[in-house]
Amino acid sequence: MSSHGDPIPMIARKSAGLKGEAHVPGDKSISHRSLILGAMAVGETKVTGLLEGQDVLDTAKAMRAFGAEVEKTGDTWHVHGVGVGGFAEPGNVIDCGNSGTGVRLIMGAMATTPITATFTGDASLNSRPMARVTDPLALFGARAYGRKGGRLPMTIVGAADALPVRYATPVPSAQVKSAVLLAGLNAPGETVVIEREATRDHSERMLTGFGAQVTTEESPEGRVITLVGQPELKPQTIIVPRDPSSAAFPVCAALITEGSDVLVPNIGLNPTRAGLFFTLQDMGADLTFENMREEGGEPVADLRAKFSPNLKGIEVPAERAASMIDEYPVLSVVAAFASGKTHMPGVKELRVKESDRIDAMATGLRLNGVEVDEGEDWWTVHGRGFGDVKGGATVESHLDHRIAMSFMVMGLATEAPVRVDDGGPIATSFPIFETLMTGLGADMGRDA
Ligand code: S3P
Repeated sequence: MSSHGDPIPMIARKSAGLKGEAHVPGDKSISHRSLILGAMAVGETKVTGLLEGQDVLDTAKAMRAFGAEVEKTGDTWHVHGVGVGGFAEPGNVIDCGNSGTGVRLIMGAMATTPITATFTGDASLNSRPMARVTDPLALFGARAYGRKGGRLPMTIVGAADALPVRYATPVPSAQVKSAVLLAGLNAPGETVVIEREATRDHSERMLTGFGAQVTTEESPEGRVITLVGQPELKPQTIIVPRDPSSAAFPVCAALITEGSDVLVPNIGLNPTRAGLFFTLQDMGADLTFENMREEGGEPVADLRAKFSPNLKGIEVPAERAASMIDEYPVLSVVAAFASGKTHMPGVKELRVKESDRIDAMATGLRLNGVEVDEGEDWWTVHGRGFGDVKGGATVESHLDHRIAMSFMVMGLATEAPVRVDDGGPIATSFPIFETLMTGLGADMGRDA
């Protein structure tokens, strides 16, 4: 089942060279944060380039439920914020749909305000672990009442007199880090998050942009991020950059589809996000960064990806995992078309995403003629080399947009077409995926 309607079966067939420019949508992580921080600022934040995927639309709806005004006129989203500590108690359950980022960040943002809110989501989100967020929120004084195993639906009772917190994240997760920082906004004094491995730093950068005092120091314990609580956040004008995690799909499709040459303009190469592109280059991909520049303090480039028939399997460094955590599914597809093994260690977190992504990809790859080995926190794809990947199977997308898109990419280069049972979840992060890909010449679409 798709998250918001009937299943949408899809098919992808072997395609001639993909050509042209791929203008991918706005960054999902930055889009969520723009709405949430906008809602916590005093005054009007204006956002252009917002990702209008279902995940982000669900966050917009949630911000309205907490009292912010959120509306779109022309190309601009306007968020009239209520200030730190100004959230109202929602009159209804907050449905975050498929979005782990949405629910975890919003729980953090409301946990230090004396209001109560109940959160739910679709079957995928309701099976994901929330204790990783509610454990640190309890240290601020918030209480959480969820289903067994810390699952949604869950009610959070916000702390009336929040205490500042010092918290070392036990898992490499930007969502956990961000939930703690957002909760720290309405606690007096300094809230400190320590992370052993660097995860995406959009919250730190954007909080600073909104006028909060945030510092990051490297120490033997890891990265120590300190936020000074109870600032008045100042509204911002935000141009959301394009999403490197969405860019991954046309880039990888071009690498494995004979005769391709695709330009993906304006992609952020923030080092905490860009691990996939360096990994592809290590595999021998014809992937270049053109027109390197800085925009809004972030490195940005136009990516050019060309068909790469001589890809080699590699050992993907475990320490790179956090910077490409959402890209392993599509990397495993590219790895199937490389010669030799691609070993991906240090990726336990993949098991608690929108689906168990190791299991979902390994099952689908095997069905399509690719050998995969897996353990709890690693997997290995045995590449078959270009021109020798069978395809022909129907794969379950498990309510996971990235699983659906990865197998649609795979089908562009397999001998027989690849089908997914439900492409509906693609709309959560990349609603124009099918139009964009077919515009480049990909033979994919709804399966009759
Ligand atoms: C995100 C963090 C990552 C990522 C997700 C977006 C964010 O999750 O998988 O798609 O915007 O903070 P984790 O924090 O669980 O690794």
